[in-house]
Amino acid sequence: MDEKMIRDTAHILVQKKPWIVLTGAGISTESGIPDFRSPGTGLWENVDPMEILSVRTLREDPRTFYRLGLSVLLRFRDAAPNLAHHILARWEREGLTNGVITQNIDDLHRRAGSKRVLEIHGHLRSFLCEQCGSDTPTTEVEKQVKSRVPPLCGCGGLLRPRVVLFGDMLPPVFQEAEELARCHPLMVIGSSLQVSPANFLPSLAPVLGVINREPTSFDQRAVFVLRQSAAETLTALDKFVKELV
Ligand code: APR
Repeated sequence: MDEKMIRDTAHILVQKKPWIVLTGAGISTESGIPDFRSPGTGLWENVDPMEILSVRTLREDPRTFYRLGLSVLLRFRDAAPNLAHHILARWEREGLTNGVITQNIDDLHRRAGSKRVLEIHGHLRSFLCEQCGSDTPTTEVEKQVKSRVPPLCGCGGLLRPRVVLFGDMLPPVFQEAEELARCHPLMVIGSSLQVSPANFLPSLAPVLGVINREPTSFDQRAVFVLRQSAAETLTALDKFVKELV
């Protein structure tokens, strides 16, 4: 890793703080969760997301949704936050950052201690009843689907995951994410920025930085682009940031 590039980037981080961070699946690969589009290992290489994780499948073919889709969603629930999640949580406490907007549904930022986490693709902690709007813990739904599909709420209504499925509208928290992106420097970590409207956020930011293994279509706008792993890069940056604050 180029030490001068890391040192210069640490200066930019401190000069322009506080940053908002936008994360994608790439920040969780070092927790053992494959991302979606890395050649050869991305999750979408083997399954067609539109087939199994869409609102249409949930409605028209709940058996496929709850037999296949749920297993994809829950496959990595035992993953643990990695160093990148922990450094971001500390940077929030230290005031270098002011919150994380995440496309991930793995709950790893919150479990690492980040307080302001905007889950724009939802989360897997509970399921929503489409009739009464109440929450049912995911563990309860997992028990139910062993014997009946689709799972039902106590009121008889259909239960659906609180993640954003293909064909869903984004949750209201996306508006808050837009406002944050408009008025803070934005650091993207581990996202191909191929999925809208999440990939609209970097175009709003007054200042943009990118930490991603592969090139993204926003790199030419960024004031820094670091093309290594998230955990390794944040660890290296953290060393210089500590000297500067
Ligand atoms: N460090 C840095 N970058 C990484 C790492 C890592 N350890 N591992 C992977 N990457 C990069 C990959 O090079 C890739 O560009 O992270 C990026 C992940 O991109 P995607 O797999 O497209 O994931 P993401 O951008 O989060 O996808 C957005 O697509 O299918 C939907 O809802 C799903 O939230 C997801 C959305």
